[in-house]
Amino acid sequence: MTTRRLVLTRSAALLGAASSGLLIPAHAQSNKIRIGLMLPYTGTFAQLGQACDNGFRMALEEKGNKLGGREIEFFKVDDESEPSKGVENANKLVQRDKVDVLIGTVHSGVQMGIHKVARETGVLNIIPNAGMHAATRALCAPNVFRTSFTNSQPTLALGKAMMAKGHKKAVWITWKYAAGDEAGEGFKEGYLAAGGTIVKELGLPFPNVEFQALLTEIASIKPDAVACFFSGGGASKFIRDYAAAGLKGKIPLYGSGFLTEGLLDDELAPSAQGIMTTLHYSTSLATKRNDAFRLAYAKTFKMQPDVYAVQGYDAGQLLLQGAAAVNGDLSNKKALYAAMEAAVIDSPRGKWTMSKAHNPVQDIYLREVKGKENVVLSVAAKALSDSGAGCKLG
Ligand code: PHB
Repeated sequence: MTTRRLVLTRSAALLGAASSGLLIPAHAQSNKIRIGLMLPYTGTFAQLGQACDNGFRMALEEKGNKLGGREIEFFKVDDESEPSKGVENANKLVQRDKVDVLIGTVHSGVQMGIHKVARETGVLNIIPNAGMHAATRALCAPNVFRTSFTNSQPTLALGKAMMAKGHKKAVWITWKYAAGDEAGEGFKEGYLAAGGTIVKELGLPFPNVEFQALLTEIASIKPDAVACFFSGGGASKFIRDYAAAGLKGKIPLYGSGFLTEGLLDDELAPSAQGIMTTLHYSTSLATKRNDAFRLAYAKTFKMQPDVYAVQGYDAGQLLLQGAAAVNGDLSNKKALYAAMEAAVIDSPRGKWTMSKAHNPVQDIYLREVKGKENVVLSVAAKALSDSGAGCKLG
């Protein structure tokens, strides 16, 4: 082949490439920001995943569905709260769909998979629920931000509230996986510091709901109180089984607020009366900001919001603030992350800021189930920050 022919062939190829759009940089080619939602849409956490999705989309819709002036496009994967598929599912969004940002997920075990992919690829990840400690402690990363909590944050203040009621001996019960174990760590720290004793720790594998034998054991131990971490469909079953086993009214039940969150319907409420929990939100918070949020959410989705909806909404708010600071150019990572780190989120839960490790610094409320509400009794911990132990950011 002569040089001239080679040149001609090359330019023909270039022309072809240009007309098919191959030479235009990815950013300019599709002006849309690609957002991946990786959440559980089936299984025991399905309702939680959908609430995160609802809240996130609502925040963006309120701002005309644009990020820093750019249109957006959604990609969605159901992670089924299945840890063994975590990496594969995250890669569907990151490698196949080439998302600019991954919003996910709910389950701490699945989050491990997302976290691995986020650290390896550098994709921006905003966590709208999963509280696994490592994500904002030893394995923290510049591109990973959380708008929810660390697993021990909501339970840290629980023990003090139990001791104030004179409950000196407690049983702890949970699903045995990262979220349950780490919630247990938080509970233990706070309860022991307040002078309590954990007489027995009980557990069962996630998402098992065969509680009977464990409830029989609790009845025979006769502790002053029971504290737990359960959530979603499994939490609803635990509350009903606790009452059916005759323990309600005999041994007071406490938990991180996930236990009753988004679940208090006509059917469950009678079994749930009097349960006291600690959490960074309650639908019943009497603030203008929360009232406006509740109204807008109810209008859009024909249901009341819960903590998962708020965390999804705040993931949207955080991304909106970051994208505005870089005029939609999410490839300007330094400025994007600096803006997200400095963000003040005007949340329905109350204003919060980011810790150095990228986790919310937030108030924790003590709540009690009355009717179909988690009524706020007091602020159990003010501006609570996770330790961020082992994180070298900031
Ligand atoms: C978690 O796995 O991190 C998790 C799941 C559900 C909750 C809270 C934490 O309600």
